[in-house]
Amino acid sequence: MEKPSRRNVLVAGGTLGALGALSVATPAQASALWTWSPKGSVAGAGEGADPRWVWDPECDALVAGIIDRGEAPAVNKLLKTWTKNGQALPSGLPADLRAFIENARQLPSWVDRAKLAKAFEFNEKRGLYLGVTYGFASGMMSTAIPKEARAVYYSKGGADMRDRITKTAKLGYDIGTERAFEPDGEMIVTCVKTRLAHSGVRHLLPKSPYWQKAADEEIPISQADMMVTWHSLPTTVMKQLTKWKVPIPADESEAFLHSWQVTAHMLGIRDEYIPNSWAEANSQAAQVLDPILAATPEGIKLADTLLNLASFIDLGLLTPHILGALSRYVLGDEIAGWLKIPREPVWDPIFKNLWPPFVAVREGLLELTDAPPELRTVYWIFDEIIRQAVLFVLSGADYPISIQIPTTNNPN
Ligand code: HEM
Repeated sequence: MEKPSRRNVLVAGGTLGALGALSVATPAQASALWTWSPKGSVAGAGEGADPRWVWDPECDALVAGIIDRGEAPAVNKLLKTWTKNGQALPSGLPADLRAFIENARQLPSWVDRAKLAKAFEFNEKRGLYLGVTYGFASGMMSTAIPKEARAVYYSKGGADMRDRITKTAKLGYDIGTERAFEPDGEMIVTCVKTRLAHSGVRHLLPKSPYWQKAADEEIPISQADMMVTWHSLPTTVMKQLTKWKVPIPADESEAFLHSWQVTAHMLGIRDEYIPNSWAEANSQAAQVLDPILAATPEGIKLADTLLNLASFIDLGLLTPHILGALSRYVLGDEIAGWLKIPREPVWDPIFKNLWPPFVAVREGLLELTDAPPELRTVYWIFDEIIRQAVLFVLSGADYPISIQIPTTNNPN
């Protein structure tokens, strides 16, 4: 048997919550003790184990073995052909991986197909705003989540952000498709592959000297981190749409939440951590997301890279300025300041003053003639931004993208 190290002791234990006592080890962690009750979860009950000490033990051990035996490239090649939820797995996969995936691809018992169908209606109706909020609220916010920023920066994807974004956008695209979780959809495959990728990161990143130096943890992507990132997605998106007064019927809002609850489960998050309502989601987010947002050198560099990614469109003449202003408008001055997003004297006031009436006009809640006259000048620019954002997310569907088990870290 392998000599026990702190790392494999942590990974091996299924009852890692017992180690919650370690959480008082550093003051930063002590400030965010997990007190959220599993009664508010989709499971309705649970051990209440502190998710900062829970990872994904079965998947982690399996993927670590695959990487260590040098099987990851062959497995990735085989899994590339597995694209549809209902499709049989390719032959040739290691038997233990096959057994794991067969189990991991099963939807939870609490799945509500009517709600998933309704979620598609919502996605179709609100796709334009979802593209913008996934990109600028969730995507930019992820650079202000210290553990995620470091993990992304020092992992393989950190060396090629465009590729990384395209792959991540696949999940944002897949969840919004019709029959996303049905046999002819692709969302289950995307989630299971992402689960494998995360396990690969948990195995590889602790070996990166750069990550070791910067990180305040030994194993990345705990279940608590997963929920933090989850809140940067649906919880943050719903807050933005509500702030913009986009009309959303209660059943559509519920359905959108449900599609993300199912996604969380399929990504390997335990049911006892997945909130069962928006009220519970908001209360959990206030506990786990809001207090941890902060600047890191890695997050600042990633935010800068993201803002400049679209510069090829116009040689950087306008896009970084417009995208910077949009990010500031969505994230607020404090977070934008942490990320060193430059102030934009022209574009900042335009977003602040004209985006709300723009949404109101688009939604038929305000006549263009009653809106501030300047809106007529920028209306097409705003419209173009949401169109481009959607195109970018949709581009994930243009060619087969296969999320892979990483084999290296960012070499830089
Ligand atoms: C990979 C989504 C949570 C760090 C991925 C990928 C997706 C994804 C779709 C595959 C893209 C790719 O291979 O480049 C999600 C979702 C999450 C979540 C939906 C939560 C609901 C997290 C958290 C962290 C993290 C909490 C870190 C703290 C990473 C890293 C990779 C990755 C480092 C691999 C990048 C690479 O090797 O290139 N994630 N993720 N993710 N994720 Fe996550």
